[in-house]
Amino acid sequence: MSRNIASILGTGHYVPSYVLTNAELEKRVETTDEWIVSRTGIRERRLSAANEYSSDMGAAAAKDALAKAGIGADQLDAIITATLTPDYPWPATACIIQQKIGAPQALAFDLSAACSGFVYAMAVAEGFIASGTAQHVLVIGAEKLTNIMDWSDRNTCVLFGDGAGAVVLGPSNGRAVLKAFSLGADGSMVPKLYQPAGGTVTPASAQTVADKLHYLKMDGKDVFKFAVRIMGEASLAAATQAGFKAEDITLFIPHQANIRIIESAAKHMGLPMDRVFVNLDRYGNTSAASVGIALDEAVTQGRLKAGDKTVLVAFGAGLTWAACAIEW
Ligand code: ACO
Repeated sequence: MSRNIASILGTGHYVPSYVLTNAELEKRVETTDEWIVSRTGIRERRLSAANEYSSDMGAAAAKDALAKAGIGADQLDAIITATLTPDYPWPATACIIQQKIGAPQALAFDLSAACSGFVYAMAVAEGFIASGTAQHVLVIGAEKLTNIMDWSDRNTCVLFGDGAGAVVLGPSNGRAVLKAFSLGADGSMVPKLYQPAGGTVTPASAQTVADKLHYLKMDGKDVFKFAVRIMGEASLAAATQAGFKAEDITLFIPHQANIRIIESAAKHMGLPMDRVFVNLDRYGNTSAASVGIALDEAVTQGRLKAGDKTVLVAFGAGLTWAACAIEW
């Protein structure tokens, strides 16, 4: 059976207007702008309003991507939202977004792969399109991470921010063709990065709240070592499967977690930093939203031209990883 080829028809993003600077964080925890910039590359991040939820940010990014794709929400067959900060534990935030953007025909569900979720969701969407299950699929990464931050823990609260990215995928028009994916997971690393309470192992109780178990917990050093290895390996695997040589990659778009992780992945690929997209200085780590925001900014800035070869790559809790090779 022949497979339909899938393309990116439009990209979009949304970030909240409030800018939380390193200088402001210096007032909240014992840290310095110098430490944060030198160890992570982050200068500021966005903070959503109290009544601004992942679905609101996701819907705004979705509307941006739909407008750029020239597709009406009523033409969508599927909505997949990648998030680790859903509006509710269930049902899916994708269903809330379906309602907010007006896409009654679209099937809708969430996908849990943490920061790799956006690229994982693109792979699922590509499968839907290839098999004919859906024609137009909206993929969203939306996060309100500042809600699960322990604002007294300097090891984590300086790293993350809020926002959303989106792409509309559909039958190929010969542009922005999804060529290959490389996805994986290592479940032995679950305790290295997780939210301990709120699931079936440790249900929410007054004690779990008092013990701060609903916040993100991370072993930064182990996650860092893992990320440095996997970002380069996964990117090369996707590129090779697509028939790209590393030196042909015009723009490398990695998950925006830490500038040192990005630099070492670029080094592994043999790519100079002027061919690497970086915006984490302005947004920090927005988890599942990160790659979508970066891709839309790269497109808007004119950094991807017809025929360009690009690789998206992410790693995250699970631990998971995902890379996608695209011929623009
Ligand atoms: N300000 C000042 N000092 C700090 C801060 C801070 N904000 N945070 C940590 N420190 C201190 C530590 O306490 C430690 O002090 P000690 O030596 O007295 O114990 C010291 O700085 C050095 O800490 P390290 O852990 O060695 O610092 P490192 O260079 O490894 O950087 C970091 C830490 C930035 C967290 C890094 O390990 C990292 O980026 N890890 C990966 C994180 C990541 O990308 N997570 C992805 C999440 S994706 C998802 O799915 C949600």
